[in-house]
Parts: sequence; structure tokens; C-alpha cells
Amino acid sequence: MKLVKTVAELQAIVKETKKAGKSIGLVPTMGALHEGHASLIKAAHAENDFTIVSDFVNPTQFGPTEDLDAYPRTLEHDCELAEKMGADVLFVPSPKEMYPSRDMTWVEVTGDITKVLCGRTRPIHFRGVATVVSKLFNLTQPDKAYFGQKDAQQAQVLKRMVKDLFFPLEIRVMPIIRETDGLAKSSRNVYLNATERKAAVILSKALTKAKAAFAAGERDSAKLTAMVAEMIRTEPLSDIDYVEIYQLPELAPAEATITTDHLLAVAVKFGTTRLIDNVVLEV
Ligand code: PAF
Repeated sequence: MKLVKTVAELQAIVKETKKAGKSIGLVPTMGALHEGHASLIKAAHAENDFTIVSDFVNPTQFGPTEDLDAYPRTLEHDCELAEKMGADVLFVPSPKEMYPSRDMTWVEVTGDITKVLCGRTRPIHFRGVATVVSKLFNLTQPDKAYFGQKDAQQAQVLKRMVKDLFFPLEIRVMPIIRETDGLAKSSRNVYLNATERKAAVILSKALTKAKAAFAAGERDSAKLTAMVAEMIRTEPLSDIDYVEIYQLPELAPAEATITTDHLLAVAVKFGTTRLIDNVVLEV
């Protein structure tokens, strides 16, 4: 596996790879790789001739009071894991390399899809994600790009961007990978202390309960969200940002009585750590 730090070197590699007629799989990450990322890299390796993993803590998707400086950086471990999972290139650019000038072009997906859920408390987040992912798509020209279902809203926003901007690639969304007790794998889990870590299991428990109720025939969207919120509130360390339900794929307001696929998503703080999780209610 090659460690690449500059845009110019990456472009040269991509040019050669395309010339050789190879398909390219891209796994965009912010590093601090865990089993969730490993599953994306493994899938990219299985489905493409050449796999590029980007490892870049993207400053433009963090708000002024968010955890940009504290975000875990584990480059040595990331190299080992990416290589083990079959990556051919690990692209680790500096902020200056990705954003050479202060005046710049933004890519912004507008509408409810970026305003609801995380968009409400993180108003610039999806513009930063869409912009950096567009740059990565243009640099790597992938046939397929891999994202995790844990960031369900991000995946829908990026699908919409790909459709609207005619990016010639397929977005592959891979299932959430969980710890044995159900907690969704996240780079931010390392912020949790032992008590918070134990408490955070309530998220997957509550979502699993709602999914089971849905499978048993409960179709009232308000009852399903109330069930999840109520269960999360039984955990004294939890501080709910949202427990909400929206129609897939565009995150339009939920139907009162569910007849199409919906996303039931939560964002909850434990101490200073904000975690997200979700389930898809498939009809
Ligand atoms: O999901 C992430 O880790 C980031 O939002 C992404 C897609 C790598 C863009 O910085």
C-alpha cells in the first residue's frame, strides 16, 4: 500500500490506474479507523480492481464549537488497518493540500435533506461534507464510493449530490457495524468514559425495540419515536438532541401511518460526546 500526501501524486496514480483499465473504489474517511471502516475497505477491495482510502479530518464540516482539534488521529494504526483490508493507496493530505486558498468553491445540497436531523444543530456540516467529497470524487474518479449506514443522513445527502451533479459513480452504503453489546462503532466512542460507554448501549436497545414493534405491525410514526425517546430517557446520563423519523430517501416529513420506508434516527449526548444511530423501517 502506498501512502500518498499530495494531490499531484494522487492524480498521477489515478491516471495510470485508469489507463490500465482498472476500476477504482474510494473509501472516504476521517481516519481513526475502526471495524466499521474496515468493512467499507473490504467491500471496496472485493468489488474493484484498485482501492483508495482517504484519511483526512475535514475542517470545513466542523462548526466553531465542535471537536475538530480533539478529533482522534491514529495514522500508524490507520495505515496498518487499511493495508490489511486491501487498500492500494492511503491518501493523507494536509488541510492546505485540500484547501489551497481561502477563497473557494462550495458544494451545497439544499432542502430538507440537509436541514433536518443533524443539519439543525450542525448548519454548515453537510456543505463541508459535500465539498470535500466532491473534491475526493474529482481527484480519484471512482467507479464506486463507500459510506456507512451509521451516517444515514450523510449517505442520502451524498446520493442526492451524485444525482444532481451527474457524478459518474455508484454510492454503496454498507451496514452499521456494532460492538457486541450493540453500540454502533464510531471514532467518537473513544471520548466516552466507562460509565458513559455503558449508558450509551441504550441507543441500540431503544432502536431495536422500535424495529421489533414495527415488525410486529406498529405503523404509528409518533408512537414509534415516543417509544425510543422514552426508553433513552430511562438512562440518566443521556441528553437527547433528537429522536426523529423521516421518509426515505429524501428525508421528507414522516407519514403519520407508515406505508413507505422510513429512517428512525437518534442523536444523543453522553457527557460531552454526541452519538448518532438509526434503524431503517422497511415496509
Ligand atoms: O463520514 C466521514 O468520515 C466524513 O464525513 C467524510 C465522508 C469522510 C467526509 O469528510
